[in-house]
Amino acid sequence: MNGMLRRGLSRPEPRLLSMRCLSSATGGGSAGTTEGGSSEATPLRPRPNALTDEIIRVDHAGELGADRIYAGQMAILGNGPLGKTIGHMWEQEKEHRKQFEQLIQQHRVRPTIMTPIWNVAGFVLGAGTALMGEKAAMACTVAVETVIVEHYNDQLRQIMEAPNPDKELLATITKFRDEEQEHTTGH
Ligand SMILES: [Fe+2]
Ligand SMILES: [Fe+2]
Repeated sequence: MNGMLRRGLSRPEPRLLSMRCLSSATGGGSAGTTEGGSSEATPLRPRPNALTDEIIRVDHAGELGADRIYAGQMAILGNGPLGKTIGHMWEQEKEHRKQFEQLIQQHRVRPTIMTPIWNVAGFVLGAGTALMGEKAAMACTVAVETVIVEHYNDQLRQIMEAPNPDKELLATITKFRDEEQEHTTGH
């Protein structure tokens, strides 16, 4: 099926696409909804400070996008030789998304207004580059994950420089950053 779908398209610009998507995910807006979250009751926590609030909102959108990118890649390449690798990375993205969805609920953070768009755009980016072939799909993964690692590193610095560093968020983002780092090498 892969060969059939492969086309002689010009080289994709996944970095450009992903950066545009990521920057759009940083926009604020009015209330949105989260989807696919756990139905378990999550205890409410105090409203976070402005930095934590913004980090949770932006990262929730980013992890939602990552989940959808891998979903798009799996839809096209899931049965091919890369299926297992993509599937493993997707599982980790689902966990990242789930944890930020829990944080959104617990802290009553307003999700970005871009959430529904991100849902579709992520899938289109993943499936679109996968249709160009396995090399393009992996180039997309490397480009997106590299940007996410830089983004998480910036946030870790910001949290550490804050007067009262949020240690739990620091630990969560450090773990995710390490996993995204592995994704840049396709693991
Ligand atoms: Fe992730
Ligand atoms: Fe990732």
